[in-house]
Amino acid sequence: MSNSDKRVAVVTGANRGIGLETCRQLSQGGIFTILTSRDENKGKAAVEALSEEGGELISHQLDITDLESVNRLSSFVSKEYGQCDILVNNAGVFLDRGKSIFEVPVEIIQDTLEINAFGALNMCRALLPLMKKHDYGRIVNVSSGMGMISTLSGYSSAYRLSKVLLNAMTRIMADEVKEKNIKVNTMDPGWVRTDMGGPSAPRSPAQGADTVVWLANLPADGPTGGFFGDRQPIPW
Ligand SMILES: NC(=O)c1ccc[n+]([C@@H]2O[C@H](COP(=O)([O-])OP(=O)(O)OC[C@H]3O[C@@H](n4cnc5c(N)ncnc54)[C@H](OP(=O)(O)O)[C@@H]3O)[C@@H](O)[C@H]2O)c1
Repeated sequence: MSNSDKRVAVVTGANRGIGLETCRQLSQGGIFTILTSRDENKGKAAVEALSEEGGELISHQLDITDLESVNRLSSFVSKEYGQCDILVNNAGVFLDRGKSIFEVPVEIIQDTLEINAFGALNMCRALLPLMKKHDYGRIVNVSSGMGMISTLSGYSSAYRLSKVLLNAMTRIMADEVKEKNIKVNTMDPGWVRTDMGGPSAPRSPAQGADTVVWLANLPADGPTGGFFGDRQPIPW
């Protein structure tokens, strides 16, 4: 393994919020962390701030909906490190808060699916070959309780549908790689104080990232194809 035998992690949408906190916890846990962000400068600033706390991190530009950007990132990881052990699909948007499914423009639903669901799929496709090469991979999809089919309710349908799709894709991907030491899981961070969650949310980013980091470090006999909250399985 490169980087003094450290595992290598890629985190999407990591310049702020739960993604940033995930990078803090992963890097301080001894994992070489690639903090990615749409805006290159925001990523650089985030790495500068986190590096002062210890941990090994670098930044890299990444827009998960732009295949050229995705391919640049995966080529960089392959060339520089030859491995990708952990992928955290954290990047997401909430564009239709409180809007009715009967009124929200279809374009908003399409844009939301493009980022929250297909963006994660783009990343899995790009980095899976590196995981297969070393027969090791931990993919963590950051979903939401709003994507639970068992409790699905009205409003914010674009966001809800995107997380339902992300959860379904998690199961399909986990099944397709089940013979390998590659685990694909999805999780709900709870309601977290970030730009998306707002200041009234009860959970800190550290609490929101805890299960992400736990899933990123699962042992070989750990679960795959599951939906988790607070390190426990939760209903689909
Ligand atoms: N906060 C909550 O209460 C909560 C609850 C349940 C689930 N979640 C999920 O947790 C994840 C992180 O949420 P958060 O609360 O940390 O949100 P946030 O503070 O709004 O951060 C979202 C991140 O995603 C990035 N992003 C958006 N579109 C992108 C794209 N096309 N390519 C790359 N990055 C992109 C943003 O980049 P820019 O800075 O460039 O916009 C930002 O870094 C999301 O998937 C969200 O759905 C959050």
